[in-house]
Amino acid sequence: MARPLRSVDSTYSLEICPRCEEGTLVTVERPYDVTVSDSVVRIPKVQAEECRRCGYRALSGREVRLFEVLFAPQYEQIADLVAALRAARYIGMFLREDQSESALAFGSRTYVATLADDLRELYLDNESSHVLDGLGCHPGAIPIDAAGRRYSLRLPKIGEGENGIVFDYEEDSGSVFKIAKPRPYSRDHLIKECEVTEFFARQGIPVPAIVDWDPYGAFVIKQRLSGRSLAVIYDELGPPDTERHRRVRETVRGFISRLIELFEKFPACKTSASPNNIFVVEEGQSCRCLLVDTGPAPLHDYSGFDFDEYWDVVVPQKIERYRAVGYI
Ligand SMILES: Nc1ncnc2c1ncn2[C@@H]1O[C@H](COP(=O)(O)OP(=O)(O)O)[C@@H](O)[C@H]1O
Ligand SMILES: [Mg+2]
Ligand SMILES: [Zn+2]
Repeated sequence: MARPLRSVDSTYSLEICPRCEEGTLVTVERPYDVTVSDSVVRIPKVQAEECRRCGYRALSGREVRLFEVLFAPQYEQIADLVAALRAARYIGMFLREDQSESALAFGSRTYVATLADDLRELYLDNESSHVLDGLGCHPGAIPIDAAGRRYSLRLPKIGEGENGIVFDYEEDSGSVFKIAKPRPYSRDHLIKECEVTEFFARQGIPVPAIVDWDPYGAFVIKQRLSGRSLAVIYDELGPPDTERHRRVRETVRGFISRLIELFEKFPACKTSASPNNIFVVEEGQSCRCLLVDTGPAPLHDYSGFDFDEYWDVVVPQKIERYRAVGYI
């Protein structure tokens, strides 16, 4: 049987490092120890991601749904556990038969709260990867239950960055649904993005309002912005000396310099001025910019920022990389 098209494949093949936004992540397998009732249990193969450029390194709970089954509190007897493993379709250690489920969901946050910290992260990784995998197998609109509501996500995605994948959904054309990539770094990015949004709005930077968000950062529902990202429109702008190109370039120049001034005053709000994060709205002869992603980029150094180099060299390079990994 032919494999269904997976529109979110990029999430699992090539990834740009969410921390430095330069390196490519490689997946390695390594043993991982967890403590259960005072004894250490070694799990022989757990996936981890590494960036060899900046040294970012993190466990990835994508394939460890087993944890959820093994450590759920209700199994008093081995027989119950075995039954639960079978029900979860485990056919061997870490091998799970593929399931095609139509009802995808982010599970109860009350349950998530009961998990110990390291297990919680692995659980959340696995939950998001399960949802993203499920989305990849279906064309059209796919219902997802989240925070007690149903969202029918429309495929294909409308955008993707280092930390999340963004979808339209049927119930509200004025908002978008962003799912964090399955890693603690990306969920933390989404949480901070929500926390800092108000601040940018108060400073007069147009940003999408937060409609609802998961306290663990697994997803956020945001106002849908008009316009398109600089990464998407850059190649359409025509030669540098044309009116449209000049207008967009000068608008972006002004916008970024306002952002950098703000970052100097408030370093904690530093975000990435990548062409994926800057939206451009063109209406007739007028042009304005919006900041679509307020998430933190603490590693970015704007001290020697040179706009012309950004426009001529950095932006095209970033676009090339986004294309290579399937973000745009
Ligand atoms: N509020 C929004 N309205 C319209 N498009 C959006 C919105 N948020 C994100 N997108 C699209 O998704 C892409 C990735 O979103 P972004 O928030 O930058 O993700 P990441 O945190 O991974 O960098 C954006 O470049 C844009 O194309
Ligand atoms: Mg972004
Ligand atoms: Zn890196």
